[in-house]
Amino acid sequence: MSTVKDLLKQKPLLQEVTLKGWVRTFRSNRFIALNDGSCLGNLQCVVDFESMDEALLRRITTGAAIAVTGTLVESQGRGQSVEIQVKDLEILGDADPETYPIQPKKHSLEFLREQAHLRVRTSTFSAVMRIRAALSFAVHQYFTSRNFYYFHAPIITGSDAEGAGEMFRVTTLDPKSPPLDETGEVDYKKDFFGKETNLTVSGQLEAESYAMGLGKVYTFGPTFRAENSNTSRHLAEFWMIEPEMAFYDLDANMDLAEDFIQEVLKYVLENCQEDLEFLEKRLADEEKSKPAAERSEMPLIEKLRFVTDQPFKRVTYTEAIDILRNSKPNKKKKFQFPIDEWGADLQSEHERFLVEKHFKCPVILFNYPAKIKAFYMRLNEDGKTVRAMDVLFPGIGEIVGGSQREERLDVLVEKMEALGIEEKELWWYLELRKFGTAPHSGFGLGFERLVQFATGMGNIRDVIPFPRTPQNAEF
Ligand code: 4AD
Ligand code: MG
Repeated sequence: MSTVKDLLKQKPLLQEVTLKGWVRTFRSNRFIALNDGSCLGNLQCVVDFESMDEALLRRITTGAAIAVTGTLVESQGRGQSVEIQVKDLEILGDADPETYPIQPKKHSLEFLREQAHLRVRTSTFSAVMRIRAALSFAVHQYFTSRNFYYFHAPIITGSDAEGAGEMFRVTTLDPKSPPLDETGEVDYKKDFFGKETNLTVSGQLEAESYAMGLGKVYTFGPTFRAENSNTSRHLAEFWMIEPEMAFYDLDANMDLAEDFIQEVLKYVLENCQEDLEFLEKRLADEEKSKPAAERSEMPLIEKLRFVTDQPFKRVTYTEAIDILRNSKPNKKKKFQFPIDEWGADLQSEHERFLVEKHFKCPVILFNYPAKIKAFYMRLNEDGKTVRAMDVLFPGIGEIVGGSQREERLDVLVEKMEALGIEEKELWWYLELRKFGTAPHSGFGLGFERLVQFATGMGNIRDVIPFPRTPQNAEF
């Protein structure tokens, strides 16, 4: 069986072909635009309505699944080189035009979000999801070809890697007879067959364990955050790519993050041209309806080339704070959260200012104050900053968070104590420092934020098939 993608590349040799797909449009009782998902384009299938059963003709409606057999001939119409002269047509599945929600007109992204099970049949979502698949392939190719081992971190775990308490509990608890503690209260710490567990927020701690034996590993899997964030950058379930490397320091870690992002975006530029051009045009149309000040200055493809062609700017947290203290986001407005002192956490308005207004390129911020970062990051000699790094992207903000890890047992234990993290909770993680400890580093890249950047989609809910947010887990 042929695909639209293959047929559109073929010469009209008058050979007989069979094609199956979904009707996008049916014009003048004659021209079917058939799409099978293999590429953005449709293949025109021309039916001879005079010789066709009328009842059958009426069932050729937008959304119906059909199979056609016919000859591939030179197309008389504009915009395509070949078309199928249909000899035989079979309806595989009807789509009642009265109730099928995806009609051949422009639907809003909000409307399509409510049709998450059908929206991939639109050009926009099929283009986004093909790019998502290409990026995912590029990720595996990048690491595998550089001798990293793909490692599967557990989804159910007892540890809170980020120490931020944003976990979904996993429970086998019988609500009728829950385990009780000494005071007679429900003991939630015994909810998973007597143990306390949650869905992973990050595979990092387990990846560290594997880097200490396999050298260079990476995870690429779903992670979960029970944060009640309703932004265009946050999901409750998102996919994260987390490489972890023995013997890498922070500089080597930053080099890897930069090279990795550039290479996977180059892969998309080289392999997804048609989908990118379509999304670029879509975005340009959308931009026209925005006020001039909010419009993006660069077309999508140019923006991708721009970040793949030049080094990212590396700046310490301390330098960034100095810049922010002496800046105003624009002539009239101050930052909503003014930066008064060293040690303050950066808000997304600050990150975006640095990237979009000040440096005008991707930025890697490093050496953050220890107080605002997770417990596992390596303390610098100054005793107050840690070897953390965040990669900040135009239009996105933070796309990567990573660090060199604290490999010294005594320093790590002291830090955990200060934060009230019990040693017995992470005994196995501490053993990695007791037996053959070594400097090591890694980072986590939020895959959906990367897909957002590559496709220009403004809302993270539109780059994952079935988004999970505080409002939505229906599908
Ligand atoms: O900065 P984060 O929290 O870092 C970690 O989890 C580290 N353990 C990673 C590591 O060093 N191995 O998350 C990493 C990235 C962020 O930079 C962001 O791109 C993405 O994950 N991210 C989210 N993406 C979508 N929705 C959310 N709720 C996200 N939270 C983080
Ligand atoms: Mg972070």
